[in-house]
Amino acid sequence: QKLEMELESIEKGGYEHFMLKEIFEQPRSILDSMRGRMIAESDHLMMAGIREFENKFVNANRIIIVACGTSWHAGLVAEYLIEDLARIPVEVEYASEFRYRNPILNERDIVIAISQSGETADTLAALELAKSKGATIFGICNVVGSSIARATDAGAYTHAGPEIGVASTKAFTAQVTVLTLIAMIIGSKRGTLETTKLRELMVELETIPSKVEEALQLNEQIVQISEQYKDATNFLYLGRGYNFPVALEGALKLKEISYIHAEGYPAAEMKHGPIALIDEQMPVVVIATKDSSYEKIVSNVQEVKARKGKVIAVVTEGDTTIPAMADHVIEIPETSEHLMPLLSVIPLQLLSYHIAVMRGCNVDQPRNLAKSVTVE
Ligand code: G6P
Repeated sequence: QKLEMELESIEKGGYEHFMLKEIFEQPRSILDSMRGRMIAESDHLMMAGIREFENKFVNANRIIIVACGTSWHAGLVAEYLIEDLARIPVEVEYASEFRYRNPILNERDIVIAISQSGETADTLAALELAKSKGATIFGICNVVGSSIARATDAGAYTHAGPEIGVASTKAFTAQVTVLTLIAMIIGSKRGTLETTKLRELMVELETIPSKVEEALQLNEQIVQISEQYKDATNFLYLGRGYNFPVALEGALKLKEISYIHAEGYPAAEMKHGPIALIDEQMPVVVIATKDSSYEKIVSNVQEVKARKGKVIAVVTEGDTTIPAMADHVIEIPETSEHLMPLLSVIPLQLLSYHIAVMRGCNVDQPRNLAKSVTVE
């Protein structure tokens, strides 16, 4: 028993929980997910799994992404990335719905299954179904040799290293990194992403690990914000564009480990329902970084403030407009909007972690949840 406890504390590498360790590992795990695949300086961009199926990808009619939980959120980010950079229509499906829906599929469809564990029953069943209808199946898994990795025609591992905390953190950013590389590769092969833009993105992607490192320095500030909101009973998370899936992911993290009810919404949908819930008791996390939807989200923040909601805003360093309205401001480094989820998710992971710890929750093994869900 004692030995086991000591072993566990060594594995946690000085951190109180696996989740915190894994959050702090992200500069390294993101780098590992790019390693060998991209070197901006020498214009190297390559992924073995894609090369084999390059023609299929270039000529695909449609890409359908199937996943569950956090992996589904990574899929949503990929929808924005692939449609924008590679101009192929993308659909993102909950594996559990897709598999029972008699979906329409053919040989020119590519199905990408995203799964950290590679064992999720619904995702595995969804890809088997797609396979039986002739689609090409590409897997993005973290666990090497897992069932989903073995069932696919080709794939790419995320190389995030073992993730122990039930709430997924570093696996998510690794999935998004791999999906970004995929979107860039297909976009450049299809000619929808010009060389200058591609180069810019490659250079920017290489800076992400150090920018994540910077974002992690927000930890102390986030502890203080968590103190003030740990007793809240509801949270709303809002984002637009690339930050919309991040809002969903932030809300999911909070639900999973702190048991606080939280909802993620595309900010513009707020007026179709959630706005009715906003009063001075409601903390609203708004991801409002400088991107193409910035002006729009400024109005959304005003709408929340007009109803006395408490705004916790994640903004780009140097922004002055939103800080003038928000109750709390979390500044993250500037980057291309295509890459922003890799940075904007970091403070949300930390926020959910600290709130859960302050509420005395079992962060690494939340009640009723499992790391890999092998039943449907
Ligand atoms: C479970 C885990 C989540 C995970 C989801 C999908 O619910 O608790 O963290 O996102 O399954 O898992 P997968 O291994 O397929 O990514």
